[in-house]
Amino acid sequence: MREKLKRIKEEAIADINSSNSLEKLEGVRVKYLGKKGQLTLVLREMGKLSKEERPVIGQLANEIRNEIEKELSSAGNRLKEQLKIERMEKEKIDITISKNVRRLGHRHPLITTIEELENLFISMGFSVVLGPEIETVENNFDALNTPENHPSRDLSDTFYITEDILLRTHTSPVQIRAMKERKPPLRIVSAGRTFRFDDVDDTHSPMFHQLEGLVVDENVTMANLIHTIDVFVKELFGKDMKTRFRPHHFPFTEPSAEVDVSCFSCKGAGCPVCNGTGWSMELLGCGMVHPKVLENCGIDPEKYSGFAFGMGIDRITMVKYGINDIRLLFENDNRFLEQF
Ligand code: PHE
Repeated sequence: MREKLKRIKEEAIADINSSNSLEKLEGVRVKYLGKKGQLTLVLREMGKLSKEERPVIGQLANEIRNEIEKELSSAGNRLKEQLKIERMEKEKIDITISKNVRRLGHRHPLITTIEELENLFISMGFSVVLGPEIETVENNFDALNTPENHPSRDLSDTFYITEDILLRTHTSPVQIRAMKERKPPLRIVSAGRTFRFDDVDDTHSPMFHQLEGLVVDENVTMANLIHTIDVFVKELFGKDMKTRFRPHHFPFTEPSAEVDVSCFSCKGAGCPVCNGTGWSMELLGCGMVHPKVLENCGIDPEKYSGFAFGMGIDRITMVKYGINDIRLLFENDNRFLEQF
């Protein structure tokens, strides 16, 4: 019996030392000290022992029981401490401020589109020029042959600063500046901000962007205009895109046209986006420079002719990048910009 007790003690201590969780440790306790535990069973057999042996073995058994309990509790404490450390490590919150707080901005899709358009026209022999956003009524309307009673001059459509100064309503005054400052041959494009008194919604903004083009030389014809626009549309949107010229009216060109291009969604086949027509409407306005406009700028309309075009860049950007609300372009939320 002495031997049996000693063996139980050794086995119990070995089991305790190899327990790596509190559950396993509890299992060890039950295995040796529980109601049906090994030590308990041995003690039950004490009755078979002689009178002399009983107290000796009893004392030994008690000692062993105490020893196992002591080992169990210190192993339990060790495991608890270890678990606490592991948990603290896992739930650690880094409360230091990141040193890298400066976030980089992102290129705006409008700027990307403008540069793409400019590069395209540069490759076709155009130069890029700039014009001011604050213009004279003379350059924005008068020199462009816009009659005194034209609706676009109305106070409800145009932001006037004084009677003679306004926020330009289109990029066309850059045509006037170019023709007054330089002599033909002229081949320029100019992109920038334009302003009209519009209520904001998903397709309108009082501030928007245009790109203007102007060619003036001897023997410039409508065929040159049509070809230039056609090449530009195919380069920008794809070789399978077609253009359609619809007669229109602008005071500063004659004849004038509006240009439609194949529907961006179905490429001309007809789909719900284009109402089955196959066309996406009004990409740009264009025409042959009106002789009066040439004259206003000191260019002889008998010798020179030219064509001009103007397009909305916001709309082109929205079509190109699948953006469905113009307001997104002007909120400058980095989470939006970073997608492009
Ligand atoms: N300025 C015109 C507009 O804003 C577009 C245009 C430009 C038309 C040049 C003809 C020639 O609608």
